[in-house]
Amino acid sequence: MIVNLRDTGVMKYTGLIREMNTPIARSACVITFGCQQNEADSEKLRGMLTDMGYTTAPSPEEADVIIMNTCAVRAHAENKVLSMLGKFKDKKTADPSVIIGVVGCMAAEQGTVDLLRRAFKYVSFTIEPNMISRLPEVMWRAANSERMFVIGTDKGDVVEGIPTERAGGHRAWVSVMYGCNNFCSYCIVPYVRGRERSRDSADVIAECRDLIAGGCREITLLGQNVNSYSSDTDFAGLLKRITDIPGDYRVRFMTSHPKDVSDALIDIMAERGDKIPPYFHLPLQSGSDRILHEMNRTYNREKYLKTVEKLRQKIPGIVISTDIIVGFPGETEEEFSETLDMLRTVRYDMVYAFIYSPREGTRAAKMDCQIPGDVKSERIGRLLRMQDEISLEKNTEYVGTVQRVLVDSVKTDGDGRLLSGRTPGNKLVHFRSATSAPGDFINVKITRAAPFNLFGELAKE
Ligand code: 5AD
Ligand code: SF4
Repeated sequence: MIVNLRDTGVMKYTGLIREMNTPIARSACVITFGCQQNEADSEKLRGMLTDMGYTTAPSPEEADVIIMNTCAVRAHAENKVLSMLGKFKDKKTADPSVIIGVVGCMAAEQGTVDLLRRAFKYVSFTIEPNMISRLPEVMWRAANSERMFVIGTDKGDVVEGIPTERAGGHRAWVSVMYGCNNFCSYCIVPYVRGRERSRDSADVIAECRDLIAGGCREITLLGQNVNSYSSDTDFAGLLKRITDIPGDYRVRFMTSHPKDVSDALIDIMAERGDKIPPYFHLPLQSGSDRILHEMNRTYNREKYLKTVEKLRQKIPGIVISTDIIVGFPGETEEEFSETLDMLRTVRYDMVYAFIYSPREGTRAAKMDCQIPGDVKSERIGRLLRMQDEISLEKNTEYVGTVQRVLVDSVKTDGDGRLLSGRTPGNKLVHFRSATSAPGDFINVKITRAAPFNLFGELAKE
């Protein structure tokens, strides 16, 4: 049940009224696919389940409730969900009281929901991502053998106060906005997550303040396009207010659309370098101006390179990563080589490359001259080999430097304790220490580099 708090489109989560409580002392498992926004949503799903009296099951096999939080960005992710779902059919047949639900971006696609309703009768419910606060009601109906499919109901509200069970300990996700207005021609996100809406800055800041007071060391602000955050301040203003909170912590953010990177954002990063680390994820998608135009990205190579130049000039040593789509419809060999050329020009630290996947309902899926699978695979292979060399060269520049690493995990092997953590520039570092623990900031001297990580030792004081 949801009640409207104000007439601003901000709602307050209230959970279920007491009479509707689902049976307690049962266990639940949430399985997450896809991006960080889904990770953050899963923390809310777990929070609501705990609030309803469910315990956490160690695995889906042992759970009474299985919720799959799905991704629709590429066909590969969707296929994985459908094949995993198939494995749960026998479990439901053996015990009809088991509840299986599908939430996330696949649950916002009418075609997928129709398929689940018709051919996956053992799926009790689906909830589109904007409506996950309806989980208590939907679970109550499922427990009473009523199937429910929550889709197309979103009015673009922001629901505050959903209980959250955070997984990260010293790291936390904080959503600042939801949805996307950009309609890049290949992308399903605006269709499944709806239009952009921002949380009130006061709610975001209060959440960050609580996290920092509770010992959180790294907050990642999330949004499909954080730079178009807009409430009583813009995104640069929001970062300024958050980093006014005293303490020893880092604030990261993702993702940024290159068309919206403002001077004010770069300036606040430069000014608050102690709290906003020198790292920027700036998705390029393609190095060809024609393809960028077809993708509806609204920038070209020149404008993109100007932004990179500004970032590097104002924030020396900044680490830059990107997303690339290989094999967009009509991409010629020459246009693909323009993407390779951009990789050589910018010299990214990290590149996340994806094979173009047609998504039903998007403009690009209807375009002529889809690129054959073998051509796409060959191109992405070439791109990744080239980038591996660049990444290794970039990482080698760190050998001999001392980096302030935030420790994320520790494991013990035959040689003692092996720790992993991240540099300010978000590079993964492995090093040995007898004492440090997750959540510690520690100075590490880098001794060796590989394309995807660094190795080091404790720096002498
Ligand atoms: N096919 C392949 N990659 C895609 N992405 C988004 N849509 C598609 C698609 N249809 C990639 C983009 C985006 C990242 C999150 O996923 O590179 O930045
Ligand atoms: Fe998709 Fe483009 Fe929006 Fe990113 S900015 S979520 S790629 S439509």
